[in-house]
Amino acid sequence: MPTQIEPALQTELRGRLRTARRVFVLTGAGVSAESGVPTFRGGGQSAVWKGLPFDAISSYRMLQTDLPAVWEWFDYRREQLRDLRPNLAHLTLAAWQEKLPHLCLATQNVDGLHTAAGSRDVHELHGNIWTARCTECGARESLREETNVKGAATGARERPPICRSCGNAMRPDVVLFGEMLPAGVFERAAEGAAACDLCFVVGTSSLVYPAMRLPEIALEAGAYTVEINPEVTPFSALCHATIQGRAGEVLPQLDY
Ligand code: OAD
Repeated sequence: MPTQIEPALQTELRGRLRTARRVFVLTGAGVSAESGVPTFRGGGQSAVWKGLPFDAISSYRMLQTDLPAVWEWFDYRREQLRDLRPNLAHLTLAAWQEKLPHLCLATQNVDGLHTAAGSRDVHELHGNIWTARCTECGARESLREETNVKGAATGARERPPICRSCGNAMRPDVVLFGEMLPAGVFERAAEGAAACDLCFVVGTSSLVYPAMRLPEIALEAGAYTVEINPEVTPFSALCHATIQGRAGEVLPQLDY
């Protein structure tokens, strides 16, 4: 049974969307769940791959000790994403950007589905899984083409790929545990959060910093803050409204 937003709250939120000057949205893995992307946490579980917790394989320590294993994990995740499409949550947010005076979208997701849905200027706090980055010179290369053929993600190029500019090893262009966020991306998103009057926090367990600072910044700036998540999170109690439901069912009901 799809989540139905309580009518009074639906009216309230549609009204706020109609009159908002600046909207800020933070999304997490849950916004892509209905596209078929597995979340890291939720349902009382935490992702494990080949016996390793995801935060061990996705770590800077692993990058230093076993770069091929990090590539294997991200090749596996890219292969999972290859045929997946944006869902109604991504599409609704992309449509809002067209009609609202200003919508700033920050995501913790590396899957690229917001951009695929048509969102512009997405602040990808944790990088993008479809790009490789040189460990030495920082040159970037797209991994899209080699993933277009089924099964090719692990076979198209050597692992780690060698940088065409300087000949050093490349790595996935994503933020690993123990690493800083890419320069400037958090600051730009924080500007959007500080300036908004309406904030949505969608599909995130609200456990990972600094991303979680963003809705806190919005709250501190006086924005009306709404959480959309089937589960209760540490942020739920702080929000003005929480809607316990799936993003792809809830967000289209807020359309105005
Ligand atoms: P998590 O996997 O921690 O949390 C996903 C959240 O989505 C959970 O709270 C679920 O209840 C919720 N959820 C599940 N299905 C949903 C749906 N259909 N609609 C809305 N919500 C739903 O994902 P994140 O919070 O994004 O970082 O995790 C943050 C970061 O931790 C990730 O970016 C990643 C991970 O480690 C790095 O890899 C650096």
